[in-house]
This record gives sequence, C-alpha cells and structure tokens, in this order.
Amino acid sequence: RRTGEVRIVEVGPRDGLQNESTSIPLETKIELIRRLAQTGVRDIEAGSFVAPKWVPQMANSSEVLNYLLGHPPAAPVPIAFNFLVPNLKGLQNFLKASDDDNAPITSSEDPNKMPTTPPLLKPDENGETGEQGPMISTEDPNKMSSDTSSKDNSIQPNNSSAFSNSMEVSLFTAATEEFSKKNTNCTIAESLERCRPIVSLAKSRNIRVRGYVSVALGCPYEGPDVPPAKVAEITATLLEMGADEVSVADTTGMGTAPKTQELLKALFGAGISAKDLALHLHDTYGQALVNAVVGLEQGIRTFDSSVGGLGGCPYSKGATGNVATEDLLHCLHSLGAITGVDVEKMAEIGNWISKELGRPNDSRAGKAYLAR
Ligand code: HMG
Ligand code: MG
Repeated sequence: RRTGEVRIVEVGPRDGLQNESTSIPLETKIELIRRLAQTGVRDIEAGSFVAPKWVPQMANSSEVLNYLLGHPPAAPVPIAFNFLVPNLKGLQNFLKASDDDNAPITSSEDPNKMPTTPPLLKPDENGETGEQGPMISTEDPNKMSSDTSSKDNSIQPNNSSAFSNSMEVSLFTAATEEFSKKNTNCTIAESLERCRPIVSLAKSRNIRVRGYVSVALGCPYEGPDVPPAKVAEITATLLEMGADEVSVADTTGMGTAPKTQELLKALFGAGISAKDLALHLHDTYGQALVNAVVGLEQGIRTFDSSVGGLGGCPYSKGATGNVATEDLLHCLHSLGAITGVDVEKMAEIGNWISKELGRPNDSRAGKAYLAR
C-alpha cells in the first residue's frame, strides 16, 4: 500500500495544555497556535468548551476562539480549528463565542485532500495576514519552501472562500463505563444520547464534527482489556449519528502493536472505513509510534499528536502526552508519507513551548533536530 498523504491533527493546545497544573496565560496559548499555524499543519485542536470546574485550564477557550476568528493566524494552508464540546451547553458556548465575532463558521474542504498547488502565506511584521505562494518544495514535499514569490491573499474572518479557516467541534465518549463516569459524569449510553443533538445542531450549522472514543486500548479503571467490539459499536454509532470522523483514542497508552491490529480488525469488521477513522495515541508506554505504523499499514491516514509530546488526561492518572508531533512526522516522512508539515519548525515550537511551561521537551526527534 502506498503511504501517500497523511493528515496530522495537532492537539497540543488542547490535549497538551489541559492537564498543566499552573495556569497558562491566554497569550501563551495563542502564541502556540500562531506558531503551529505556520508549520503547514491543517488541523489544530485549539480548546475545549467543558465545565471549567472540571478542567480549569480550558476556561478561556471562548477567548481563544474569538481571537482566532478576529485575527486569523498567518498560515500556508487553510486551517480547521477544533474545540471539544462535552454537551449541548458546550456547543452553545462555542456558537456564542463564534457569533460574538459575527464571523462565519465555514465547513472545511475535505481535510484529507492536500492542496494541488500548495500556497504559502507569509506573515507580515505582525504575523497577522499573509501572502500566497508555493509551500512545498519539489525536493522535499514536507519541507516549507523559502520561496517568497507570492501574491496578496489575506485571510479575513469574513472570507468564506476555499482559503478561509474553519471552526469544528469534537465530542467525546468512552469505551468503558468507569471512564465515562469519571470523564463526563454519565454512562456510555447517556453520553451517546448527549452526542446526538450536538451532531444535529452542529450539522445544521454546517460545522464539521469529530468524535472521540476514549480508552479504546486500555482503561485506567477497568484494565487493559477493553473489548474491541465495544469500541467498534460506539464508533459505528457516532458515525451513524453523522460524525464526520471518529478518533479512536489510546488514552492510557496501554495499546501495543497486536492490540492495535486487533482493534482495527474489529473496526473494519464492523463495516467502518479507514477513511472515517483517526488514531489518537498517547505515549505512556512508548508504544505510540509502533501503533501508529500498524495503523498506517492498515490504511489509517489521520493521526493526532501533540507538539513536544505535551499533555496527559486529567482522568487517566499517570498518562503522559500524545505521541510527539515531531517524532510522528520524522517516522511518517521516513516512510514516504506526505504530511505537508515542516518537522524542523515543529521541533522549534516543541522546544519553545516546553521552556514556556517549564517542562522537559518530550520529543526525542525534536531534540535531535535542534541539536543538528
Ligand atoms: P456535570 O457536573 O455532570 O454537569 O458535568 P452538570 O450538567 O450537572 O453541570 C454542572 C455545572 O457545570 C453547572 O454549573 C453547569 O452549568 C456547568 P453550576 O450550576 O454548578 O455553576 N456546565 C458547563 N459549564 C461550561 N461548559 C459546559 C458545561 N456543562 C455543564 N459545557 C460535564 C458534565 C460533561 C459538563 C463535565 O463532566 C465535563 O465538563 N467533563 C469534561 C471533562 C474533560 O474535559 N475531560 C478531558 C477532555 S476528554 C480527553 O482528554 C480525552 C481525549 O483526549 C481522547 C483520549 O485521549 O482519550 C479527547
Ligand atoms: Mg487525549
């Protein structure tokens, strides 16, 4: 199977930051997103409209959304910014924050489709707007070109052309009852019933919807053996509701290569197509890359990752961050995948944000790129 194009969903600003114990300034979050936007990544999970008493770190997600609509970051490609919504109230708060700015929420083009003529938006001094030109050099499709020959094409909040950014939402449920209760204070069935009106309302507003199924490869409360058939059943339900894709999450990092293979077999066996799936791999046991390659071999082309390996789940004790974006990019590029994302830029961001947060940089490849 040819590897071809692979889509990276950068979840650092949400999954990466939600678990930090000290309050992160809004400016730092926005700066992180602005830097990530310049790497060529097309999907950034930017915040979360959850109950602030459950996850205080995400309390200013309205401000993040508002900022992104009012000041679209300079970027070489249109970006889908994604926000978690746990219930209708979350979606309503998301819509309110969007409407505050009167900006349209445009549905993105097919995110799996790479641009045929990749453009480059070059930031002006303030980094606010940009210019269009070639992004991907002919030598290395994953490296940003330094070619600055370009024409004006500023992204404006009200620009609903194919080049505008879009705002998306993600809802989440879990494959075990205990995790569902700890994470969202309801049973799996109740959480799926919560999801249904969220999907309907979002779809009626032309908002793309992602679903998450947590603890798909192991649960901190029920153990490592989560039935793949259960994950497949929940995934199928989310897709049948109208979710555009489902990200199957190894929240605890308990996944191994054989378990990942078995899970994918169950998902495909339930009639779910690889193009409707993403893998969201935490790296707690250092298996995320191996599991990603298993996914890749099985046809998965969307992977979630976090710059600098930031993160951890507040309801999964000891869980570390997602697979580091730099590590994933290094691996994918070695296999000939085209991500359109500049790994060296990503490595610089991983280094910068780790210092900002006063935590070690958890990306092995990121540190190696910087040492070159
Ligand atoms: P609850 O306490 O059962 O909700 O929480 P409630 O309806 O009884 O409301 C309690 C209070 O929360 C009320 O306020 C509501 O207004 C408020 P009060 O009257 O006490 O002042 N409230 C909200 N406020 C703001 N936004 C909202 C909202 N909803 C209620 N949307 C709830 C239920 C689902 C809200 C809560 O459990 C929650 O927010 N959970 C989210 C937990 C979370 O964010 N977890 C991390 C993200 S998921 C994750 O990391 C996994 C993932 O990465 C994949 C993986 O790796 O597995 C995606
Ligand atoms: Mg996660």
